[in-house]
Amino acid sequence: MNTPHGYFLTLEGIEGSGKTSHARRIEAFLVQEGCQVLLTQEPGGTRAGEQIRRILLNPAHGELDPFTEVFLFQAARREHVKQVIQPALHAGKIVICVRFTDSTIAYQGYGRGVENEFLVHLNRVASGGLNPDCTIFLDVDPEEGLRRSMAKTSADEQRFEQEFQIKSDLLKRIREGFLHLAREEDNRFVVISSMRPREIVFEEIKETLRRKILSTRKGKLGWKA
Ligand code: TMP
Repeated sequence: MNTPHGYFLTLEGIEGSGKTSHARRIEAFLVQEGCQVLLTQEPGGTRAGEQIRRILLNPAHGELDPFTEVFLFQAARREHVKQVIQPALHAGKIVICVRFTDSTIAYQGYGRGVENEFLVHLNRVASGGLNPDCTIFLDVDPEEGLRRSMAKTSADEQRFEQEFQIKSDLLKRIREGFLHLAREEDNRFVVISSMRPREIVFEEIKETLRRKILSTRKGKLGWKA
């Protein structure tokens, strides 16, 4: 299923790639351009989703079984798509979502070794078949990303970071997984190196937004009257 009226933009990347801060800049830029925008994130975006997020990120829960992780992420996703994302797209908005189905393939698939076909199927069920129109993958070196992320993530949300510190290969595999997905779907993915100063990275993001969204959709839904 493609997006009914609006535009569905996702931001992907490993820890410390700058997804959240660039998502805020993207939101401000698109609003300035006269677009109607909704910024949201996974896991999260709904009350139930935020509770599930707390379970997933809290180091007190230790190592969860990979399938437990999968089901929790998908439960949060189902609520998010039904309650938040689909209604906004039907209203013609541009939805910016930090992380979506590609994160499941990269983290639970390439990272944890859960079978790809099973994850693709569950992604389809949870998302109702919704696919992003465009995915910006912000690429950062795993060591540098983890360093940045540890510096800004509160201690009660570092379950993944703490595991990556111990298992140094895990985050590398996840990054490789994202890069593989980007090569497989090079029409949807735009890969941008986040190893450069923030302003330069954002210039490249803006160029992508102009090319993918603004140049083709001006005057259509997603724009304020
Ligand atoms: P973040 O929102 O701070 O990036 O934290 C979310 C964590 O959850 C991050 O480590 C990536 C992970 N994640 C998965 O493992 N699978 C998923 O499907 C999603 C959405 C996130």
